[in-house]
Amino acid sequence: MKLNTYPMSSSNIKIIPIQQSKINSVDFNNLTFGTVFSDYMFECDYKNGDWQTPTIKPYGAITIDPSARVFHYGQAVFEGMKAYKDANDAIFLFRPEDNHERINKSSARLAIPEFPKDYFIDGLKTLLNLEKDWIKKGIGNSMYIRPFVIATQPAISASPSEEYKFMIILSPAQAYYSGEVRVLFAEEYSRAASGGVGFAKAAGNYAAQFFPTKLANEQGYQQIIWTDADSHEYLEEAGTMNIFFRVNDTLITAPNNDRILDGITRKSVIQLAKDNNMKVEIRRISVSEIKEAAKKGELKEIFGSGTATVINPIIGFSHGGEKFDLPKLEESYASFFKEKLTNIQYNISEDPYGWRFKI
Ligand code: COI
Repeated sequence: MKLNTYPMSSSNIKIIPIQQSKINSVDFNNLTFGTVFSDYMFECDYKNGDWQTPTIKPYGAITIDPSARVFHYGQAVFEGMKAYKDANDAIFLFRPEDNHERINKSSARLAIPEFPKDYFIDGLKTLLNLEKDWIKKGIGNSMYIRPFVIATQPAISASPSEEYKFMIILSPAQAYYSGEVRVLFAEEYSRAASGGVGFAKAAGNYAAQFFPTKLANEQGYQQIIWTDADSHEYLEEAGTMNIFFRVNDTLITAPNNDRILDGITRKSVIQLAKDNNMKVEIRRISVSEIKEAAKKGELKEIFGSGTATVINPIIGFSHGGEKFDLPKLEESYASFFKEKLTNIQYNISEDPYGWRFKI
C-alpha cells in the first residue's frame, strides 16, 4: 500500500515559542465545537506582490487596521480540515491537497492571490507536529484545522486588497452537531445564485445563512437545506454540509455547480458508494420528488456530509407546512459511510485511494 507523506520543503517557517502551554486547562471530553484553540497558530502575510516568510507563534489576538477590506467587503475565504491520531500516535490528514486546491479556487473567485502549496503543507506539518499532544486518540476525537485568508490592506476603496494575511488555527474537536438534526427545506431565502460565490468557501456565504438559520432554529430546526434561488424547487446543500438522499436503495445527491460547495467528504462518499456497488445518482433532486418518496415510504434516509460534521443523519424535514419523519434504520447508509470514512481517516483500515497523509 502506498503511504503518502510529505518531505519538509523550503518555506523556512520562523517559530516563536510559547511561554507555557494551555493544554492542562482543557477538558478534552467536553469540547464545544470551535471554542478551544491550541497553543500555536500559523501566519503568513502577503505584501509587495509576494507571500512573506511564514511564522508560527503563540495563538492570540492580531492587530488589523479598521479600514482593512475584510471588515468592509468581506474579502475572506477559509477551509475546514481535520487531523486524526491512530492507536500508535501517528497523525494523519485526509486529502489535504484537495483543501489546498479548494482554498485557491475560493481565493481566485474573491480576487485573493493563491497560497503556495509548499507553504500550506509545511505550515500544517510543522504546526501539527508542535501540537501533537492536543490531538487525542479515539474515533470522534480530532483536531479541526481552520486555514483562512483575510484582506488586510488599510484602505476602504471597493477593490481587491493588495495585502493579505493567511492563517491556520487549530481547535480540538468532537461532534459538530450534538443531538438530532431536523431540517427545513428553503422556500423564501437563498444561499447562492448562479454565477455567484456559492461554490467558494467565502466567509460571507456563511454569514448570509445566519439569519434564516436563526429563524429555522426558533421553529426547532437545526439547519436549512437550501434550494435553487430561481424556483426553490431543487434541493442543493445545507450550507455546513452537502446533502444525500436515499430513496429505496438509491443514493442521490445534487451535481456540483457554481452554487454548491465541492465537498471533499461528498466526493469521498460518492467514490465509496460506487466502489461498494451502490446505486448512485448525481442529478437535480426536486422537493416534490422527495416529499412524494417520503409519503410512499420510499425515502429511507437523508444525511449531510462535511469535514466538521463527517456524516450527519437527518431525522426529519419540513416544507410547505408539512412535516416528515425519517425511519430509524438498524443498518443505515449513513453509518456505513461514516464507518468506512473514519476507518480510513484513523488508519484503522487500508486506504486504497491514497486519501490518508501521514504528517
Ligand atoms: C467544515 O465542515 O469544515 C466547514 O467548513 C463547515 C463549517 C461551517 C464548520
